[in-house]
Amino acid sequence: MEGSSKIKPAARVSGQKQDVWSIINEAAAASPKQPIVNMGQGFFGYNPPDFILNAAKDALDRVECNQYSPTKGRPRLKKAIADAYSPFWGRKIDPETEVTITTGANEGMLSAFMAFIEPGDEVIIFEPFFDQYISNIEMPGGKIVYVPMHPPETGATKTSSAADWTIDFAELEKAITPRTKMIVLNTPHNPVGKVYSRDELQKIGDLCVKNEIIILSDEVYDRLYYVPFTRMATLSPEIEKLTITVGSAGKNFYATGWRVGTFRSTLPFSPVSPFNSIFFRLSSLTFVLLSPLTGWLMGPANLIKYVSAAHTRICYSSVSPLQEACAVGFEQAESEGFWDKTITDMKSKMDRFNEIWAELDLPYSEPEGGYFVLVNMKKVQLPADYPFPEHVASRPRDFKLAWFLIQEVGVAAIPPTEFYTPANAHLAEDYVRFAVCKDDEVLEEAKRRLRGLKKYMQ
Ligand SMILES: Cc1ncc(COP(=O)(O)O)c(C=O)c1O
Repeated sequence: MEGSSKIKPAARVSGQKQDVWSIINEAAAASPKQPIVNMGQGFFGYNPPDFILNAAKDALDRVECNQYSPTKGRPRLKKAIADAYSPFWGRKIDPETEVTITTGANEGMLSAFMAFIEPGDEVIIFEPFFDQYISNIEMPGGKIVYVPMHPPETGATKTSSAADWTIDFAELEKAITPRTKMIVLNTPHNPVGKVYSRDELQKIGDLCVKNEIIILSDEVYDRLYYVPFTRMATLSPEIEKLTITVGSAGKNFYATGWRVGTFRSTLPFSPVSPFNSIFFRLSSLTFVLLSPLTGWLMGPANLIKYVSAAHTRICYSSVSPLQEACAVGFEQAESEGFWDKTITDMKSKMDRFNEIWAELDLPYSEPEGGYFVLVNMKKVQLPADYPFPEHVASRPRDFKLAWFLIQEVGVAAIPPTEFYTPANAHLAEDYVRFAVCKDDEVLEEAKRRLRGLKKYMQ
């Protein structure tokens, strides 16, 4: 079958370069420093709280929770989300028309692009970006227009707030054309840790109102902020009319991986993540992946209905028992004190881990939200003759730094230039991203190992 000319992967997957997650995972597996302390991917090192875990277990015992859910989501979950967010909106959100449930935030965003993007339509995204945006926009034929966030000028020498990563509004305005259909915003931001200020959001929102651009506001880290957090849709009725807000129960409730799959194929290629919510059936092979993680989108009824329509065609409905568990999560989070605790706990992890940078005299961007920290490692000297494999040697310096950290100190982190176009990658080539959503002992062990960097400092 391998030599056959008809059975071959589509260009959109076959031409992809090796993704950062497999580079880092392979490096971690090959490192002499086992076990590796993995601060790379943003998965939690601990479980969701008991009131949510127990709700998931209870749901599995109920007949109706093991069957298809309505395609727009279970009524209990839509209501729980509408109730939880109405206070921020300052009005009652209608759970039937303004909320739709998706299979993770990622599938929700794919549905939003599928709903509104025609071939050739332009979508503005800021660099660094969440990597899945790219394929999600390209699948319906969208053209991506990139606008960089500018790092602080003194980033290589001084720690400063993640707020100092800024947008040049003249650059943003120049990127807008008559074909600009959507803009994607991410706040709190992965990987920078920036929480966009009200003023910045207002400027972006005003440009979108002026040019009639849909705003996809990716707010998956919306419960993790350490400075005041403004939600784009709440700025004004005009901005709200254009805004679809994206949420993720995986991020909110420490459950990024409620995913179940079976896969059988005789073809010589593996599925890629943009397709992991889609069900393919071919005569000689079966390929089934189910991704039951729960995300949702909120927005004006006239936008949300089309997102729901696309979602129906992509994965029909999202996993029933875990929707039920998430409903309980939203119903009880406030009274359990969970939202406050999630901030206190993550901020304490952030502070605990970041103590190491003062010791090493390495500057970082002090996060305003989320669970990632970007550290500037310009001062780390990589030995000139270090044996980097070709697929790392050919990438920007941050890939070499990440490889070196894994091999020499046994800590895995992510090179952020993966989230840039080649033209702007130089902006982040001295940075490395660490995820701090790990147990405190893991953070302490990471710090102990990172002290090993001292001998490579200028
Ligand atoms: C900025 C951002 N948006 C969206 C997602 C996807 O969320 P989900 O796991 O709910 O699909 C992530 C996950 O890392 C993310 O960092």
